[in-house]
Amino acid sequence: MEKAYVFVTQQITEESLAIIDKVAYVSMYTGPSPCPRDRLLDEVQKADALFVTISDQIDAQVFEASTQLKIVANMAVGYDHIDIIKAKQMGIMVSNTPDVLTDATADLTFALMMATARRIVESSDYLRQGHWKSWSPMLLTGQDVYGATMGILGMGRIGQAVARRAVAFNMNVLYYNRRPNKEAEQQLGVQYREMDQLLQEADFIIVLTPLTPETKHLIGKKQFELMKKSAVFINTSRGPVVDEDALLHALKSKQIWAAGLDVYEEEPISNDHPLLELDNVTCLPHIGSASIATRVVMANLACQNIAAALTGKQPPTLIP
Ligand code: GLV
Repeated sequence: MEKAYVFVTQQITEESLAIIDKVAYVSMYTGPSPCPRDRLLDEVQKADALFVTISDQIDAQVFEASTQLKIVANMAVGYDHIDIIKAKQMGIMVSNTPDVLTDATADLTFALMMATARRIVESSDYLRQGHWKSWSPMLLTGQDVYGATMGILGMGRIGQAVARRAVAFNMNVLYYNRRPNKEAEQQLGVQYREMDQLLQEADFIIVLTPLTPETKHLIGKKQFELMKKSAVFINTSRGPVVDEDALLHALKSKQIWAAGLDVYEEEPISNDHPLLELDNVTCLPHIGSASIATRVVMANLACQNIAAALTGKQPPTLIP
């Protein structure tokens, strides 16, 4: 039987490549990220499998250009950049990398929350820019984290992992989810609230819901108006869950106290983006799962999904 052909849209390690090398010819795009659209459309015509990341738009045009594609293996847990409906119609499998990135993403979410609350980046810049002349009582004062109320929107795997960290900080954890998560309530002591109620009660609002047509602009003008003036707003899920214009307004008008963002409506943002003009925002370049170990395990898992699909086995983390 002729060996299958796999196209990988980003540079991954030898360790990961070895997993697919055994069962297929592999071609990897090694130029500057992201892989050009033309190259992707060209490669998909002959590929049995695609290894993709969130930088690749795997829409209907990509699926329609394929001739023998069996699987799209996504090196991410979120898959809003993949036309799942089209894939299903065409009988093409799609996999993602859940679980392996849960703790790394929860760590980053917590770090961003702490950094925003205690103005870590702003304080570091203040010192580096030579403004530090003396200690003074109210200099660079922030918000207390220990003992405060956290409100998590989306109590999935990462939401629960963040809640676990919050419990250790003696936080009172509220959550909103499409369906109440009784297991999380029992195991972590988190309490369900309707969304509007949560927004009014929480000191820290953490967005961890996947992007779907239902969650697009879940948080907008009305929701920011409900939050406390001292609220710290954190988004480490997907940018379009939040109406960025409404967020900008809420931050500029001090309707909320600060925000920590890892994701944006359009990525990457340019360095003249209006959010970057504000002191009360901490901005990161979508690095939620970016620990060395986690990124290697994610790439390995995506390759294991491809290897399984190409050898007639069940890929370990197929999207149902
Ligand atoms: C990253 O954003 C992911 O979905 O894994």
